Amino acid sequence: MSQFTDLLLSCWIAEAGRSAAMASRGQQESAIQSAARARILASACHKEGVRIVPNYATRHADFLREVAGTDEEMGALGMIVLQRLGAFVDAHTDRFLTEEDHQKLVELGQAELDEVNMALMSGRLFPPPPAAWPATEESKAPGELLARFGILGDPHVGQTETNESLLTALDHMAKDGASFVVANGDLTKDGKVEHFHTARKIFDQSEVPVLVTLGNHDMWGGEDRSLGMERFTAAFGIKPYTEHTENGVRVIVIDSADPRRNPFPPFDMTTGQFKDVPPLTVPGGTFSEETIEWLRTFEPAGPTFIVLHHPPYPFLGVPPLVFGLDQAGTAHLAELAVRVQAKAIFVGHSHRCHLNYLEDVPVFELATACDWPFGYNMVEVTDEGWSLNLRPIDYEPDLDPMSHREYLFRRYATGPDEARSFLALNDEEAP
Ligand SMILES: [Fe+2]
Ligand SMILES: [Fe+2]
Repeated sequence: MSQFTDLLLSCWIAEAGRSAAMASRGQQESAIQSAARARILASACHKEGVRIVPNYATRHADFLREVAGTDEEMGALGMIVLQRLGAFVDAHTDRFLTEEDHQKLVELGQAELDEVNMALMSGRLFPPPPAAWPATEESKAPGELLARFGILGDPHVGQTETNESLLTALDHMAKDGASFVVANGDLTKDGKVEHFHTARKIFDQSEVPVLVTLGNHDMWGGEDRSLGMERFTAAFGIKPYTEHTENGVRVIVIDSADPRRNPFPPFDMTTGQFKDVPPLTVPGGTFSEETIEWLRTFEPAGPTFIVLHHPPYPFLGVPPLVFGLDQAGTAHLAELAVRVQAKAIFVGHSHRCHLNYLEDVPVFELATACDWPFGYNMVEVTDEGWSLNLRPIDYEPDLDPMSHREYLFRRYATGPDEARSFLALNDEEAP
């Protein structure tokens, strides 16, 4: 599907998901209005020949319920989260709808917006609960160790002045005995040339070698065209995809960054408005022809792990579909994973801990050291199985304990225990 039809379907999923999540929160009036908004988008999908997939809306609603919580847990904050996603839909659909339909859509969301504004003005939000690192028991594979490596989720060099959390994570991984580390894209805050060079310097100074690939944040950096690839090449002097084998354990690192400019500026889910900055690249991922050709060369070998930046299609967090790898890229990824009998796929991008499956292969969205829960990921492969563990870096960022935004991010990013501590044995059946 094209970028635009995916965006239209994304907006329908968001709206149908919102309606279901509001109904479970007891926001009956808003749920009815939102269902009417979803019908407008469903008929726009029909007109464009885009097939709606009810299962995507159901899964997206489950995600929204997790973040927005019940009324007892979250009060008005849950309502605000859902309304902001509605604002995302308003802001991205005027090009798909007739002026009249778009106006109707906005009007149907007006009562909900008024209620949110009233809640914000009256200050009736609970104080957020204190943050506690999501401790889980470590998973450990039995048997003889074959390889141990680290994954440094979305480094975003330049996000802080000192990049302290990254340096700490790399130091911890070396101490934990990683023989190499993979930095899975979004190497830089926003593709600036000096941040690419700082990233190179940080990785060169690390005690363990670091394999790198690109993410969406690395790609733009220019006035009118993507400069990410040339800046990456100038700083690192290599291709943004690679394969590495250690003691029979193979890691395939794939570049999924898309150089296309996003027609929209970044959207701020806190304010429900576009940010006042120029557009970057599209957030979603794709595979280039060169990458697809390269993927064709892989045969089954020893235990194989795949690392890339974007979660596969359909991504059903926020925003649905358009934030993840496209459908065509996902088909190539799935085919590769089956062909090489991959043990797991590790991705970043969403800055959350999450576990999903692609063709029965577990797909882990991994935490980063620069956002809650501020950790790094260790993978251990033995002759009997393998394990993944998220470990803390004991980094004390300057977080505001009263910030609802940070509380929401914690709810979003923590994920289930099995996404942070996972064990698979070689003789286990696939799920
Ligand atoms: Fe990122
Ligand atoms: Fe990203």
